[in-house]
Amino acid sequence: MLSKTIQDALNKQVLVEAQSSQAYLAMASWADIQPGLKGVTQFFFKHSDEERMHMLKLIQYINERGGFAIIPALVQPTLTFVSLKKAFEELFRHEVNVSNSINELVDIALNEKDYATHNFLQWYVNEQIEEEKLARECNDKLELIGDDKSGLYLFDRDIMLMGNE
Ligand code: FEO
Repeated sequence: MLSKTIQDALNKQVLVEAQSSQAYLAMASWADIQPGLKGVTQFFFKHSDEERMHMLKLIQYINERGGFAIIPALVQPTLTFVSLKKAFEELFRHEVNVSNSINELVDIALNEKDYATHNFLQWYVNEQIEEEKLARECNDKLELIGDDKSGLYLFDRDIMLMGNE
């Protein structure tokens, strides 16, 4: 059975994942109307779906453990980026924030001596390592490419292939 503290903390993470899904959906829509970013568009749509899956996993866990998962209201994502580079910088920043929030959750689970939740959260800890790595690699590539159009073409193609692996 989940304690009230754990339940509330997990429900907060449901919102974080839902909001991440929404943020990447906004990025996907932005990329979709830019010329020549088919791969990037697919990448963001797929990433949005993955965040929804992260959210669903939490919802199922909360309910399975005798809690009640709250489906939260979402705020409209602000599109602060004006370029591909800025979009990927935002992706990286966002993932670092998600990692911080997962780390806080792990801390709470340990404080509450909820080892089942601690164990459940390890999947998210590992996932965040991968997500941060991916976002960092994309930023490194874009830094190298700069304004080189053929480089951007290859970046878009690569990221499309990556999504189909
Ligand atoms: Fe579910 Fe990318 O954090």
